[in-house]
Amino acid sequence: MERTFAIIKPDAVERKVSGKVLAMIEEAGFNIVGMKKIQLSKCEAEGFYYVHKERPFFGDLCSFMSRSAVIVLALEKENAIADWRALMGATNPANADAGTIRKELGVSIEENTVHGSDSPESAAFEIPYFFSQLELV
Ligand code: TYD
Repeated sequence: MERTFAIIKPDAVERKVSGKVLAMIEEAGFNIVGMKKIQLSKCEAEGFYYVHKERPFFGDLCSFMSRSAVIVLALEKENAIADWRALMGATNPANADAGTIRKELGVSIEENTVHGSDSPESAAFEIPYFFSQLELV
């Protein structure tokens, strides 16, 4: 079993489609081993997206991610990291395959509904950024 980290982003929580995202996650066979609703500070978003700090969209991305509540998730299944990236779809919803979360629910390349760890190293940083051991069941 492998674990990955996911976020249901502000655009989805604001539009009240987080339940749809959670249903797609469970239907795809993931176990939700951690889940909470929080609002990131700008500073916490910057720490989370530190690897992107030199990219031109960094400031706007951190403002978006901290503008309202998110749902953070730790997901578990075999091949969880790659399978969650596949279920999310391409970064830009316009380029995402039918049936993916970003195609079905995404708004734009920035407001693209969900985040997912892109590697085991990212998951190992991102899960403990938000969850203590006691919060993973
Ligand atoms: P990235 O890691 O490239 O994509 P992914 O989320 O698919 O792993 O980028 C991180 C987030 O940054 C992405 O989900 C949305 C935002 N972003 C923009 O706002 N503009 C852009 O041009 C890109 C590439 C990403």
